[in-house]
Amino acid sequence: MNIIKHSLAVLGMLAAPAFAAGEVSISIDAGKPGPVINKNVYGQFAEHLGAGVYEGLYVGPKSDIPNTRGWRNDVVGALKELHVPLVRWPGGCFADTYHWRDGIGPQDERPNVINTNAAGVAEVNEINAVGTHEFFDLIDMLGAEAYVNGNVGTGSVQEMSDWVEYMTSDGGSPLARLRAQNGHEKPFKVAYFGIGNELWGCGGNMKPDYYANLYSNYEHFLRAPEKSRPKMIASGGDTTWTDVLSKELKGRTAGISVHQYTIPGSSWEVKGKDLGFKEGEWISTLANTLKMDQIIKDHGAVLDKNDPDKKIGLMIDEWGTWYDETGARSALFQQNSMRDALVAALNFHIFHEHTERVPMTTIAQMVNVLQAMILTDKEKMVLTPTYYAFQMYVPFQDARSLPLAIKDNTSYTLGTTTVPGVSASAARAKDGKVYLALVNTDPSKAVDVTVSVADMKLKGASGKVLTSAAMDAHNTFQQPQAIKPAAFSARAAGGKLSIKLPAKAVMVLALAE
Ligand code: AHR
Repeated sequence: MNIIKHSLAVLGMLAAPAFAAGEVSISIDAGKPGPVINKNVYGQFAEHLGAGVYEGLYVGPKSDIPNTRGWRNDVVGALKELHVPLVRWPGGCFADTYHWRDGIGPQDERPNVINTNAAGVAEVNEINAVGTHEFFDLIDMLGAEAYVNGNVGTGSVQEMSDWVEYMTSDGGSPLARLRAQNGHEKPFKVAYFGIGNELWGCGGNMKPDYYANLYSNYEHFLRAPEKSRPKMIASGGDTTWTDVLSKELKGRTAGISVHQYTIPGSSWEVKGKDLGFKEGEWISTLANTLKMDQIIKDHGAVLDKNDPDKKIGLMIDEWGTWYDETGARSALFQQNSMRDALVAALNFHIFHEHTERVPMTTIAQMVNVLQAMILTDKEKMVLTPTYYAFQMYVPFQDARSLPLAIKDNTSYTLGTTTVPGVSASAARAKDGKVYLALVNTDPSKAVDVTVSVADMKLKGASGKVLTSAAMDAHNTFQQPQAIKPAAFSARAAGGKLSIKLPAKAVMVLALAE
């Protein structure tokens, strides 16, 4: 696959660092609530790729692994704890080779096909056991919204139009009747529908003008009842794509997607290892992650010019770490360490900052692929540090962001690379409480942080911290609890909270009045 990306891109004391750097002051204004952080910023991506869907999520109803209509009970149970708001499916590159009719009707009559889009690493058999109805079963179990990605690359306008009608028609159309015959009388609710994926590459090697015309043509024929019409998403690329698409597709698209992965190295040929890396790759990974902010600003500036009313969202529907393949497991399987938890948290803070332009993101991916929440090996399952980051940040879903300023921030430098020492984000959650999230990027120095909140009599704080002794601390099938969040609390004095933020830590606290 041709991949071109935008950038190479306690009171309870823990195993702690010997040195504390200077004091960082954080001030939050609880009296000036900002925009709502759309819960869909915490979306997930499940592609038919490697062991992402089959084995990772779906084992079939006859499996010895406990399941509900084929979906693994352990994995679904763990995902429910994340309040997964949205799932993108079936691809990715897979979407542009997927023919939805292969995945409906009796499972044992569905065709076996070759999945040629296992991210360029392998060809795998696609058994089509998971199709439209099975996907919506998962969506229902998770209580999530659906983001379905259609096929432009090898499909047709008719095929895509039929799929949207099959899913959404509530009338007596032949496709609605077929859906009912297949066991689902009522229409499925499709929140977002993607018109192709990475059309500049695996989706068909197109130019933006050509795709803009195709998009208009496809979108024109996507029939859905007005009240349940999905938000249509155009698949973008670099800022030239965003420019062309936002000019040409005004009024016809709810969003333009951008994919931005984090790799530790400086080229896609040598990305870097998932484990056993040196400190140089710790800092380069974090520095490359922080490029997300500039990427959003660059695309945002183009959108501000072409879409000043902010009708078009920037959908970061693929993000996360991508390391060198080890070949030991399924395609794009990689381990996930403390470093990945920081990558997730730093991205969350950036998304919160840009919430008015970025209403939705989906991390790549949910299970067993790239920066996953969960890894599985037959009947075993482990939760990754990224899982815990998503779990700790649940209160930020649909919370109202709060202005936050950091004074006297530390910086963390190695060689010629410097990143800010502390990253922070605050919001008032739906439960009425103010939450503060903190990241310390320095892998060996703790930092003293004081927090004051305007418009609030701060008494203390409690929550969770995720930290570790090793930079690549991770969970394995043998040691599934090697790294997990610990309880943390702090008391305030004179309206100020004093926190010792451990080295390489992600912390989320509920502030108490
Ligand atoms: O997430 C893995 C792959 O990365 C997706 O299929 C594709 O869209 C991207 O290049």
